[in-house]
Amino acid sequence: MSKFQLKWGILATGGIAETFARDLYPNPECRGVKDVEHTVVAAASSSSVDRAQKFLKEVRAPESAKAYGSYEELVKDPNVDIIYIATPHSHHYQNAMLCLSAGKNVLCEKAFTTNAPQLEALIKKAKEKNVFLMEAVWTRYFPLSIYVRDIITSGKIGKVSRTFADLSMIMLPENTFDDSHRMVNPDLAGGALLDLGIYALTWIFQTLYTTQKDPKAPTVVSAMRKYKLGTDEQTSMLLTFPATDARGEAHGIATTGMRTGADPDGKGTAGAPIRVQGEEGEIQIFHPAFRPTRTKLVLKDGTVEEKEWTQPGPGKESGWKNGFGGDWQPEGEGQGMFWEADECAHALKEGRKEGQYESLQESLVIMQVMDEVRKQNGLKYPEKIETLEYPVQI
Ligand SMILES: NC(=O)c1ccc[n+]([C@@H]2O[C@H](COP(=O)([O-])OP(=O)(O)OC[C@H]3O[C@@H](n4cnc5c(N)ncnc54)[C@H](OP(=O)(O)O)[C@@H]3O)[C@@H](O)[C@H]2O)c1
Repeated sequence: MSKFQLKWGILATGGIAETFARDLYPNPECRGVKDVEHTVVAAASSSSVDRAQKFLKEVRAPESAKAYGSYEELVKDPNVDIIYIATPHSHHYQNAMLCLSAGKNVLCEKAFTTNAPQLEALIKKAKEKNVFLMEAVWTRYFPLSIYVRDIITSGKIGKVSRTFADLSMIMLPENTFDDSHRMVNPDLAGGALLDLGIYALTWIFQTLYTTQKDPKAPTVVSAMRKYKLGTDEQTSMLLTFPATDARGEAHGIATTGMRTGADPDGKGTAGAPIRVQGEEGEIQIFHPAFRPTRTKLVLKDGTVEEKEWTQPGPGKESGWKNGFGGDWQPEGEGQGMFWEADECAHALKEGRKEGQYESLQESLVIMQVMDEVRKQNGLKYPEKIETLEYPVQI
């Protein structure tokens, strides 16, 4: 059987672009995926063509891959099937509009956009151009996430009425980030909420929304502590999901921050920061919320089932490694970003225009929740990155 080959163009050459493109290198068969394969055919850097060239070498792209010194050139490349956008959130709207307008399929990093109206405009453009569009919330596509959602829909822990989810990391902003860094800089839509909080919300949503037959948008109340630059350094949210049956509404408690840790000693000693609770028991997911590798099912009847979810890869002595921010996985073990890439390939192969584990509607509801949390706490970004205007030079 011939395989469906997906030809990737990488837009931006920063930290996560490198991790993602590296994860496209191992043969998908090493994770049991036999019908699709990935090739990086081009990369573009807004800094220089040399930077793009260096990037292609670092991620082991084929010699034939093209390097571009602007994003505008990349979207014109007829050999590119899909573009992965890996700029700061502030730039996603402008970059995605550029790609979609050129008729390219798009996988866009989280947070999808700066605000919900921008995402609505992208969805409209994708429909108009009849192309695929998906938010790169990679965790949703992990086998671990599929297992957790199956536990819920099978009824094993009974009706789920509450989920706690925290993604907090002790990285004191004043010691860790320069004021221009995308984690804290308002011009780059910085702050804990859009960068880390979205993963806490991912766990709230994939356990209380994605798993429902007829999901309904939640209401939210929230509190936020600001950093000196006006972006948030700690945000807490209480979401109420309307009842979908006679047994009542569900609560999601999502927290995020840069001054406390979901896993302070890095060994899981503090317990699971994600707990999905039902009438028959609970399923726990261990830190980090974006790349968990351990779950624990605890049932009322005394059943305890612990599982490890190591990311597959070409294995030891393969001479291949991946990781993020200097934090390398063991040799031969993947980062896990390839699952979302496989989903893109499967969607395009089947003619789908969105991802199967997070619809565009769900991404939009999450953006609306984040908009509301920002509104409740007076966090507004500069107009040039909140605007619906396109094109705007930022
Ligand atoms: N899925 C995950 O686990 C994960 C992890 C980290 C980050 N992310 C997401 O990925 C995105 C990028 O994060 P990152 O950590 O890769 O950031 P980064 O290392 O700062 O890279 C961002 C890249 O965007 C390009 N860029 C264009 N205009 C820019 C501007 N005005 N300021 C800064 N960079 C600009 C640059 O590439 P060129 O110079 O080549 O154009 C830069 O290298 C964010 O939306 C973030 O939320 C996701």
